[in-house]
Amino acid sequence: MKKILIIGASRGIGLELVNQLSNKGHHVLATVRQASDIKTLEQRGASPFNLDVSSASSIDAFANTLNDHLFDLIVYVAGVFGPRSDASKQVKTEEFDEVMHTNVLGAMQLIALLAPKIRPETGKFVFISSLMASMQATDSSSGWVYKTSKAALNMCVKAASASYPKICMLSMSPGWVKTDMGGEFAPLTPTQSVQALLQTIEDTTLMDSGRFINYNHDPIPY
Ligand SMILES: NC(=O)c1ccc[n+]([C@@H]2O[C@H](COP(=O)([O-])OP(=O)(O)OC[C@H]3O[C@@H](n4cnc5c(N)ncnc54)[C@H](OP(=O)(O)O)[C@@H]3O)[C@@H](O)[C@H]2O)c1
Repeated sequence: MKKILIIGASRGIGLELVNQLSNKGHHVLATVRQASDIKTLEQRGASPFNLDVSSASSIDAFANTLNDHLFDLIVYVAGVFGPRSDASKQVKTEEFDEVMHTNVLGAMQLIALLAPKIRPETGKFVFISSLMASMQATDSSSGWVYKTSKAALNMCVKAASASYPKICMLSMSPGWVKTDMGGEFAPLTPTQSVQALLQTIEDTTLMDSGRFINYNHDPIPY
């Protein structure tokens, strides 16, 4: 049985990670930002915690409740898309701040608190990024705030992997998934995406740290 923490588990990919990992018999701890979602986690057999990754005080309060856990895996799933607009429209500061604080700053603030709590040599710290973060694959500015945030997240993970050489730190794309964010036309169900993500995570080792990879193990160019 492994000890696993899922950050951002109220719905979508995060909740499906909790479902599948709990069903496999692992000890799953998971976070939601709204008290009303705590029950959902309890029903799935997970130990619930409250955490708003865009709030430094919430991050500090969460870290203080974690005690002496040693995790085999932590997955940072929390994310927002923000404005769907492109470079033809001026970005609103509040919208930029919400996306960057959730997708980037939250991850940066949690890395220093959580990376030391991951089992050396075999432990993994995974960050759910997006194919839209790939500079090489980018040919339009549609959703550019989100794209910029996930590219920044990738840099955080790659940079931090040098500071924590004893754990495997990965940026991963879950594919295009039918969730509130992905929408109804996405080709993958959360079940399919998470099955593949978990298999790929299982197959990676310390040698893979700092890589950006797809849910199906294919490398993605930065
Ligand atoms: N779906 C896709 O096709 C797709 C593709 C590429 C990457 N991704 C990435 O996959 C991750 C999960 O996305 P999803 O498709 O499952 O989206 P989703 O259904 O919209 O779920 C987003 C999750 O993030 C949580 N969250 C948002 N802001 C938060 C905050 N400030 N603090 C804590 N939790 C917060 C939400 O909690 P609340 O319920 O409280 O809002 C929710 O649990 C995201 O990082 C997303 O960028 C998704």
